[in-house]
Amino acid sequence: MSAASASTPIQVEPISGALGAEVSGIDLGHPLPGQSVAAIRAALLEHAVLFFRDQTLTPEAQIALARHFGELDVHPIVEGLPEHPEIVRVRKPAGESASFGTGWHTDNTFFEAPSLGTILYGLAIPPYGGDTLFASMTRAYDALSDGMKEMLDGLVAVHSAARAYDPAVTGEAKYRGDAPIRYRHSDAIGKEVRHPVVRTHPETGRKGLFVNPMFTLRIDGLHGAESDALLGFLQSHATRPELTCRFRWRPNSLAFWDNRCVQHYAMDDYHEFERVMLRVTISGDRPF
Ligand code: SIN
Repeated sequence: MSAASASTPIQVEPISGALGAEVSGIDLGHPLPGQSVAAIRAALLEHAVLFFRDQTLTPEAQIALARHFGELDVHPIVEGLPEHPEIVRVRKPAGESASFGTGWHTDNTFFEAPSLGTILYGLAIPPYGGDTLFASMTRAYDALSDGMKEMLDGLVAVHSAARAYDPAVTGEAKYRGDAPIRYRHSDAIGKEVRHPVVRTHPETGRKGLFVNPMFTLRIDGLHGAESDALLGFLQSHATRPELTCRFRWRPNSLAFWDNRCVQHYAMDDYHEFERVMLRVTISGDRPF
């Protein structure tokens, strides 16, 4: 049991050796006392992704929960709920392939200030499949050789939304409103931003890799082939099974992950079933 549970009634049980813990003894559907917020924050910093079962949250309660940890993003490309633009409904109907989050990534690294964290709430969950995988970028950094760490420290990578959101790649259906998730045309799609390849977590002070295959286009100062090879190596290293955990959803489960030190991957293995999630992201800082 972690330090987070020592002074409060919540229980925090790790689910893997790398990252991730299941938290119980707390009702997230009502305003939280400061002590509970502090306990959740401490557990998040220790485990990088937290899982809560059997939570009953209205959209307003999900927003209130997230606001305990910061301001909320309004996604520049993915349309939110009309009454709550901060909430994105991630819906995959039965009989279709999942197309949101199905690849390793860290949320919104194409922002100048990428999201601090994400809170995802499960409404309709397939009887099997549709798990979410998480990988620890701090453990990935720690597991590199000193020589590789030295080479990476100081490198800068270019991130962009184009690979994930360019209508030429995704097709126009989402932009026309003919798909369960609606996208809007935005200047954010063509913009490039630069972040360090290794970032220091602003709260724990730990270093972690900060590149991902969905949004990182290249590393500055390297030839294309060198950049591709290095990014490819870092990704396969960072997602070794020992550095990951996997969450099996149930209706009313909620996951809260720290985008400053985690990548995640939404499995597309439940074609015949519907899956509906509500997602909010908490605004973050410029990585350093
Ligand atoms: C996401 O990538 O934010 C969604 C993850 C999921 O649906 O499991």
